[in-house]
Amino acid sequence: MVCLGNICRSPLAEGILQAKLDIRKHQVDSAGTAAYHVGNPPDPRSVAVAYKHGIDIHSQKARQFTSNDFEYFDRIYVMDRSNYQNVIRLAANDQQKQKIALLRISEEVPDPYYGGDDGFEKVFQMIDQACSIVANQIQDE
Ligand code: 4NP
Repeated sequence: MVCLGNICRSPLAEGILQAKLDIRKHQVDSAGTAAYHVGNPPDPRSVAVAYKHGIDIHSQKARQFTSNDFEYFDRIYVMDRSNYQNVIRLAANDQQKQKIALLRISEEVPDPYYGGDDGFEKVFQMIDQACSIVANQIQDE
């Protein structure tokens, strides 16, 4: 799960998708394309909205996406088209490029960082719906 800062959207996506999958079979992680917040916990507004829905993300720590992630992970979901451009730039070949997809099919998860708290609830709902689809796809394989 990849966004820009790895403190708002992708930590939620990591926590939400992991909660929908069998932890013994699937590993979910998140990263940011930028390094601004490396080492920081998720934004308190993301922690709060996740907690409200029964998901604990407070112990996550932001890290930056690297080209090694293409080797380790089978799928790379990005939140918006800008993330897509930043990630595809780091891909070494077509096989790696094909691992990248928008988490919401043809739609973006907007950045809630500069908005109010209700933006985080909206983003939670968008990510939750998209992660249900992804979890079903993974479990059907
Ligand atoms: P995120 O949100 O990409 O969902 O983690 C952002 C967090 C921080 C910044 C931008 C987006 N920032 O510019 O610091």
